Amino acid sequence: MNAQALVQTQQQGPVLVVSINNPPVNALGQGVRAGLLAAVEQLEQDAALKAMLIVGQGKAFIAGADIREFGKPPMAPALPDVLNRMETGSKLVVAAIHGPALGGGLEVAMATHFRVALAGAKLGLPEVNLGLLPGAGGTQRSPRLMGVKAATELMLSGQHLSAKAALAAGLVDKLAEGDDPLVAGLAYVNELLARGVPPRRTRDLAIADKAAALAELDAIALESVKKTRGLFSPAKIIECVRAAVELPFEQGLKRERELFLECLNSPQRQGLVHAFFAERETAKIPEAKAAAPRALASIAVIGGGTMGAGITVSALDAGLSVVMVERDAESIARGQKNVEKVYDGLIARGRMTAEAKAATMARYTPSTSYDAIKHVDLVIEAVFEDIEVKKAVFKELDRVCKSGAVLATNTSYLDIDAIAAVTSRPQDVIGLHFFSPANIMKLLEIVVPSKVAPDVVVTSFELAKRMKKVPVRAGVCDGFIGNRILSVYREAANYVLEDGASPYDIDAAVRGFGYPMGPFQVSDLAGGDIGWATRKRKAATRDPKARYVEVADRIAERGWYGQKTGRGWYLYPEGARTGQDDPEVLAIVDAERKKKGITPRAFSHDEIMRRYMAAMVNEGAKVLEEGIALRPLDIDVTFLFGYGFPRWRGGPMKWADMQGLDKVLADIQEFAKEDALFWQPAALLQKLVAEGKNFDSLNQR
Ligand code: 3HC
Ligand code: NAI
Repeated sequence: MNAQALVQTQQQGPVLVVSINNPPVNALGQGVRAGLLAAVEQLEQDAALKAMLIVGQGKAFIAGADIREFGKPPMAPALPDVLNRMETGSKLVVAAIHGPALGGGLEVAMATHFRVALAGAKLGLPEVNLGLLPGAGGTQRSPRLMGVKAATELMLSGQHLSAKAALAAGLVDKLAEGDDPLVAGLAYVNELLARGVPPRRTRDLAIADKAAALAELDAIALESVKKTRGLFSPAKIIECVRAAVELPFEQGLKRERELFLECLNSPQRQGLVHAFFAERETAKIPEAKAAAPRALASIAVIGGGTMGAGITVSALDAGLSVVMVERDAESIARGQKNVEKVYDGLIARGRMTAEAKAATMARYTPSTSYDAIKHVDLVIEAVFEDIEVKKAVFKELDRVCKSGAVLATNTSYLDIDAIAAVTSRPQDVIGLHFFSPANIMKLLEIVVPSKVAPDVVVTSFELAKRMKKVPVRAGVCDGFIGNRILSVYREAANYVLEDGASPYDIDAAVRGFGYPMGPFQVSDLAGGDIGWATRKRKAATRDPKARYVEVADRIAERGWYGQKTGRGWYLYPEGARTGQDDPEVLAIVDAERKKKGITPRAFSHDEIMRRYMAAMVNEGAKVLEEGIALRPLDIDVTFLFGYGFPRWRGGPMKWADMQGLDKVLADIQEFAKEDALFWQPAALLQKLVAEGKNFDSLNQR
């Protein structure tokens, strides 16, 4: 046996053990496919062999196709061919599954004749998350094993099933004790051989009651159109299952192949695969090479408002102990209530028990005294967004916290270097910018000020991992990565508004692009008072030559802050969450146009989005050239996880690459003819275009 081989084979009596050895997750790269095919041939040719057992080495069975191969020229042997050969062979083939058996990995298992699963197995067909469909017979075999409804739902959701759930669904035949797939698998194969069980080929299993199955599929298709708005592959998955019901197996496979290739060649696949790798890449930061994390068992949160409470829940859910500090008895009582409200909501929806809540809350300590946080390893400040209030808090933290404690601020915009400077330990001060609601939103911007120690940065990434957040490293500037870029494209939307589009048109265009909401809807949800306060704060430093649209101020001055006040850009009669267009808002917009002598013109959705995206990408390029973001992919991940950017477009920088940077630059140069101050093309963007490169060239390590 060759210990280096990607597929290792070993004879155990009459059984050929085929062990996949392609760390970290045994992806089905070309070498693995070739190794598997060679093993199948060996099984057929060696008369002494009666059966074959497939197991995975390390932590996975097989996590699917090698995602890095997508988009490259195909390399033989193709997985469907390997699996067909295996399934139709004359001898018994069994899979013993521990850990992930996903995508092509589960397709391998479904093409064997019997499957045994260990307790930690995770089975699923998550291709939809990559803009694909199961393309190695998965759409044809899963309905035959699980039934049409369950199989289609598995493929549309991309969900993973536990071993137990997979047994109940008919995906596996047996559960085994222990944690060694080789032991469990051999026992099962030998049992089947002893009983003389012949190969049971999934392709030969019948789909029961085809008419009922088709009716079920129609119902799922109807639902799916609503749920997967804008996505390409779900409809193709449904088409494949329809083929599984209506066509003989081989023809169904052929149809699956055609539709798989359509998905593979779609821009959505490119966007989603980029998102898959980008989200794993952001944790790879320079500091990790030089430093180890500090201890992290207990934390303190200062402030129990919207953010403080959400952060507390996130930390409690990660198993940490949390001391919450508020200004006075009344505020801390409210802070605790804010935390409990989250858990009570879970209990009401049957997603948490009262006992579990009590056990979680046992790790929570409310206090109005800083003395209660002397022992904690890390503090997150989430008090009002006011530099003086924050400086006062950090002076207190400096006074009471133990040496080596990490002192973090959740500020959205303020200068973290200035906050660090009021302490005697700027090396311990960092920004941890959570997004609202902090217990739900996955993004965590880790903002690195000039004097912070590398191990504080690494500790912050460790915290993100424990909290199951997606961390992005950012530098200090007004708004860091996300809010800085947001403020620019938000301004571009204001210009379009003042020049002629309605807020409702702009929101519709942005939704049409794939966002769940448009910018004016978001403002109504977050509260128009927040943006208003920021604009007032920035008024003194605003360039007097810069164009400034006052419409939002006119709305806020009326106390129309959005959903919480019943009206904002939209009307929300009686607490409705979906807004209605408001003719009075349109009149305000019109009055502002008249004041400035602007004759409104029509904007197509396409032009609205060209301006919105050009502003986003241009500011993204500036953020990169200033070193605020490490790589373009960090900007992409920020927008995917913090701002609702449609995942299937990969993120704004990936989107720009897919348009062609020359096209984006040409748009900016065209818009600059109207307003050269706002539309100054980023030097980096011009450089990349001149060199014929794209943003992705800066992602390469
Ligand atoms: N191909 C290539 N690399 C893969 C991979 C795959 N299928 N799955 C994971 N990796 C890589 C990751 O990029 C990561 O690399 P890095 O260390 O260099 O960043 C490494 O493996 C470890 O991955 P995770 O950090 O995600 O490890 P976890 O332990 O958290 O999760 C997992 C493991 C559940 C297997 C998760 O990686 C996962 O969900 N992988 C993708 C599974 C998938 O989508 N499979 C379907 C592929 S498409 C297909 O099979 C088409 C077929 O129908 C023809
Ligand atoms: P909030 O007004 O809901 O809560 C602030 C809390 O801080 C209040 O409960 C107040 O009593 C408390 N507080 C004020 N001074 C204090 C002091 N000296 N000591 C202890 N507690 C004190 O505000 P919110 O929305 O939670 O924001 C907090 C911080 O988080 C701000 O810096 C904000 O910019 C930032 N942030 C807010 C986001 C949001 O969407 N609301 C998103 C990301 C960051």
